[in-house]
Amino acid sequence: MLKGKVIVLGVTGGIAVYKAVELLRLLTKAGAQVHVVMTRAAIEFVAPLTFQTLSGNPVHLELFNLISEQEIGHISLAERADLFLIAPATANFVGKVAAGLADDLLTTTVMATKAPVLIAPAMNVNMYHNPIYQENEERLKRHGYLFVPPACGMLACGYEGEGKLPDPTVILEEAIAALTPKRLSGRRVLVTAGPTLEEIDPVRYISNHSSGKMGYAIARQARLRGAEVTLVTGPTALSVPCGVKVIRVESALQMRDAVVKAVEETDIVIKAAAVADYRPKLRAGMKVKKNAAELAIELEKNPDILSEIGARKGNRVLVGFAAETQDLLGNAKSKLEKKNLDMVVANDVSQVGAGFNVDTNIVKMLFADGRVEELPIMGKDEVAGIILDRVEELAKGKG
Ligand code: CTP
Repeated sequence: MLKGKVIVLGVTGGIAVYKAVELLRLLTKAGAQVHVVMTRAAIEFVAPLTFQTLSGNPVHLELFNLISEQEIGHISLAERADLFLIAPATANFVGKVAAGLADDLLTTTVMATKAPVLIAPAMNVNMYHNPIYQENEERLKRHGYLFVPPACGMLACGYEGEGKLPDPTVILEEAIAALTPKRLSGRRVLVTAGPTLEEIDPVRYISNHSSGKMGYAIARQARLRGAEVTLVTGPTALSVPCGVKVIRVESALQMRDAVVKAVEETDIVIKAAAVADYRPKLRAGMKVKKNAAELAIELEKNPDILSEIGARKGNRVLVGFAAETQDLLGNAKSKLEKKNLDMVVANDVSQVGAGFNVDTNIVKMLFADGRVEELPIMGKDEVAGIILDRVEELAKGKG
């Protein structure tokens, strides 16, 4: 996701410097070319050699290093960067930038860059809540600097509270977000994902093989593109993408209630959930014992949530999924029409590499105007990106 991106990783002096090492590893693994700038205080915590080895580039330490000034120069570093990422950032660093001070290599390059600057502060909880620090952060935010809020927990100084550097995976995700064009900014997107679970008795249920991966990937991509995202999800083992509001449900009826409530506030609805079409007519209050030789469970139909939304969709963009094992295009086309969709993403779940519980998918996209677009096998993140590209076009068409 960061292939070809040049990132300047600024490391300032705090105990969390050790986490910046892991962050650097994640950035390079994601394909970024990373140049590390360390302050004098930072090198007291971790030796520059560690950052140099992992980045594969010389670490920049002094403002007037004659050799590196000639080879790169602090201004050229500022110009070449696609993103400046400061992690951990001390109160001192934030204060200096907020005051317009540029007295070392890092503050100088930060002041000189036109690239987005993402700051991950880490400090003692009382320092973090100090109104002077907070004012400095607010001032920088007003000027377009981006912040990753610190996490809560046990701090190195023995205090408990806000101030911890967030997990490097969270900072990586925010770096990716900072580098993603905000083409869905101002749009409110509702995504459903995962299976539903229909209880038979207190210990048993009917469900399906949906892992939720496709819906979660769409929710993540939509928020990276600047949308305000609500994810209504059935039970899954996945962690919720950063910056996404989550509503957890179990049954189709609960999903229906959550969707009907949330849909009023949305412009785009993408229904990737595998909703159980039927539920047990009666849910036994006690565990069903195995006395009889045969057991029949009577089922009744669940509401079709997508059809319900389709019937009163207004100006919304409505996208459904069609998981099929036969006549893929025919069935998908009939769902598109019956449910009043703008687009349906169809996959033949009997194909290897498509559908439930795998990391890849093979889909065909059908549009209300009759167009059909076929995609080759690809990762679900990539598929999610292409689905959202098309959704952006559909949303633009509706104004
Ligand atoms: N869907 C829904 N509510 C249901 C069933 C399905 O909102 N009770 C949505 C799914 O989220 C998906 C689309 O409808 O976006 C198609 O789901 P799918 O299970 O493929 O089709 P069904 O409409 O259930 O038809 P069938 O099971 O006969 O193929």
